[in-house]
Amino acid sequence: MAAWTEARGVRPYENQVGGHSTKDGLPASLVDEEGRFLKLLQAGERGEREVALYAAVERARCSRPKSDGLVENGSSSSSGGSRRGGGDERQAACGSVPGACGAPPSSGGFPGVAGDSAVSGRTGDVGHAAPGSRNSSSTGSDSGPSGSGADATLCALARWVPRSFGTRTLCGRAYLALEDAAAAYASPCVLDAKIGLRTWYPGAPPALIEKYRSKDEATTQSSLGFRICGVRVARLDGSVWRADRHWGKGLGPEGAVDALRRFADNGLLAPGDVFAPALRELRALAALFESQSAYHLYSSSVLLLYEGAARSPAEAHVGVRLIDFAHAFPAGVHPGGRDDNFLAGLRGLIAAVAAACKAPVDVPCTVLQQDGGRSK
Ligand SMILES: Nc1ncnc2c1ncn2[C@@H]1O[C@H](COP(=O)(O)OP(=O)(O)O)[C@@H](O)[C@H]1O
Ligand SMILES: [Mg+2]
Repeated sequence: MAAWTEARGVRPYENQVGGHSTKDGLPASLVDEEGRFLKLLQAGERGEREVALYAAVERARCSRPKSDGLVENGSSSSSGGSRRGGGDERQAACGSVPGACGAPPSSGGFPGVAGDSAVSGRTGDVGHAAPGSRNSSSTGSDSGPSGSGADATLCALARWVPRSFGTRTLCGRAYLALEDAAAAYASPCVLDAKIGLRTWYPGAPPALIEKYRSKDEATTQSSLGFRICGVRVARLDGSVWRADRHWGKGLGPEGAVDALRRFADNGLLAPGDVFAPALRELRALAALFESQSAYHLYSSSVLLLYEGAARSPAEAHVGVRLIDFAHAFPAGVHPGGRDDNFLAGLRGLIAAVAAACKAPVDVPCTVLQQDGGRSK
């Protein structure tokens, strides 16, 4: 694998916590020469939907006029998200959407960090479609089914969705190049929470619905509205604790709250130091889903991130990102209206995070198994 990746100027990604580790013998995630996260796309419609959603968000990213009259472009990502010439900058219609453009300016280096607007303006790498994709504009901001409603939602989502830079083919398979959400952290702590009371989408093949339904019912998905799909905690003493999605599936409701608390423990920080900023972002995201009806997300995840090397709350740079759009559908594909499934999941995560702030830290290390392989 090492020779394979070196020959192509890419390397394995170290900070992946959830999802597949390999697919069809290929690494599910890599980092390219510019520090971008490369996600191996799933075949067929899943990959197409994922590329389409990331591309639509990228097109809709807002240009936010600065007080000096200049336009601030791009999140200040250290992952290759720097300005890349000549994007079609435009002011998207975000005004009516909670959490959209106009939030306070972002802090340098930590896109998606709580308290940031994290809105970015340039849209130079837009319009990328998955190989074989007939039309990536099915979720597009201009021609999407909900017109300006979709524009506003996509623009608002840009606050949490990592930037995307099109696809790249390696070994005959398409990888999607994304901003590495963990790149700005010296010792990233990352938690992947899959959101929604159910992870299957209307119209899915019956066998898939059954498979997803049974996973949902066997985990905290259907009770809490989320399940933990992976955790990485880098502590100040240099130790790293990792747990994968198999471990997450075994957690009950109390175990999930304990796991959140353990995630926030780098050896010095208190749960509230990590979760107070995370709650602000999660509530803003929930406010968006209370009002938007342009997109329905199934099986998407919230990534929580913070700096494991932090010696104070100010150094934690807590971030909240939204990822995994293989089952993201624009309005019109399914019965419309609010995405109550995703919203309920967000509310469940918010409740669990709030509980993790309050409860004492008392998690026996013995119940926390180390990471086993992550192949699905
Ligand atoms: N933009 C990103 N930056 C950093 N890590 C990411 C990014 N997107 C995904 N990941 C990592 O990869 C894992 C799997 O990603 P995901 O999109 O959920 O793939 P899958 O479809 O395999 O579930 C996540 O749990 C996270 O650790
Ligand atoms: Mg995933």
